[in-house]
Amino acid sequence: MESKLSLFPLTTETSSDGHLTIGGCDVVELAREFGTPLYIFDELTLRSKCREFRSEFSKYSRDVKVIYASKAFINRAIALLLLEEGLGLDVVSGGELGIARSVDFPMDRVYFHGNNKSAEELRQALAWHIGCIVVDNFYELDLLNEIAAEGKYRPDILLRLSPGVDPHTHQYIATGIIDSKFGFPLVAAEAAVTRAMAMPNLNLVGLHSHIGSLISIAAPYEKAVEVMLGFAAEMKRKHGFKLEELNIGGGFAIRYSMDLPVPSVAFYAEAVISKIVSECNRLHLELPRLVIEPGRAIVGQAGVALYTVGVVKEIPGIRCYVSVDGGMADNIRPALYEARYEAVVADKLKEREEKRVTIAGKYCESGDIVVKDIVLPPVTAGNLIAIPDCGAYCLPMASNYNASLKAAVVLVGEGKARLIRRRETLADLTDCDLV
Ligand code: LLP
Repeated sequence: MESKLSLFPLTTETSSDGHLTIGGCDVVELAREFGTPLYIFDELTLRSKCREFRSEFSKYSRDVKVIYASKAFINRAIALLLLEEGLGLDVVSGGELGIARSVDFPMDRVYFHGNNKSAEELRQALAWHIGCIVVDNFYELDLLNEIAAEGKYRPDILLRLSPGVDPHTHQYIATGIIDSKFGFPLVAAEAAVTRAMAMPNLNLVGLHSHIGSLISIAAPYEKAVEVMLGFAAEMKRKHGFKLEELNIGGGFAIRYSMDLPVPSVAFYAEAVISKIVSECNRLHLELPRLVIEPGRAIVGQAGVALYTVGVVKEIPGIRCYVSVDGGMADNIRPALYEARYEAVVADKLKEREEKRVTIAGKYCESGDIVVKDIVLPPVTAGNLIAIPDCGAYCLPMASNYNASLKAAVVLVGEGKARLIRRRETLADLTDCDLV
């Protein structure tokens, strides 16, 4: 049987004493040095994912840009690593933009998204000569045109369309359906194109769609490409619109559990590229530049959450709760999306998994369950639980619920661990309060 360890980062091994090691670092040592909850990112896995996306999508015969969706997890060290790997960034707020700027990330490689960007955010983006603004609605289009008139910088823009495609994913992360807060609905898209084309201060270069997240089949992407290119061809015929760039967003799934395999990057790339090429041929369109925006698929597998076990409570005949020192404050996904994770006892990898337990968080809410019903070796206080696939959307959605302190983050590789975000302290909690 395939081991659960295949869900962990690529460098994961079992040490001779049965400990989990990542990037050549024994996680028991990491827990001792940095404390828990600890988020561990494996440098090699991160870099390999960047390279895999770049190489598979570069099979397209025109330019391809891989833009990392920062919302999955951004941090100054991570931004620098992505830059080294030749990726761009998609940001959705002044905050994400500011983090990129703080490490001198080249602004011409940054795309700015969001369904309700503020005037200040847009002004800041233009002042820094952002690479591209993905305009979401008419209000923003007019506002941006006005703001751009104030200065000399004429930004490239894409129009985000909602292509009405069902991505077959959780309703909270489906974004391209007709009833969505994101993007121009198709019925309004022609008006958006003609209005944008006529705007003196904006340079319309293409179209964007992002249909949802955790999409594990090719069909929704193929359908979205069909709709977007069909629309582009109609706009070319009616208004002389030239589609220079097609951005199909992100959403590529990763494998969270053993019973749900997902396609390879190569599979998605093949499906998207062949659909674009065949549709462009059919519609007599020139091949546009292709942009993709993976988030989860770049950082997800690289990140592991490490917790220490405290209380083990057996309710005879009902359930055994294993409580850990983190939970919904650092990973809201199980409570919010019923997300299912796997887990291992990181200091007992060689022991038989024979006990069914539920791993609970430490926060004051019954829904604070990390993994419901999982079979593990017997655990007691002090053992370490490691959860794979925690690199995406755990830390960025973390909160200070119960006035908890946000976790430390380390980057590991070649036997070394580098702290890339220190654990919060009580002072971080009280500093903003005024008495
Ligand atoms: N591009 C746009 C415009 C997006 O809105 C998103 C994600 C992405 C790219 C990246 O999608 P990814 O490749 O990471 O699936 N908090 C949820 C996921 C929300 C995704 C929002 N948008 C979760 O924890 O599953």
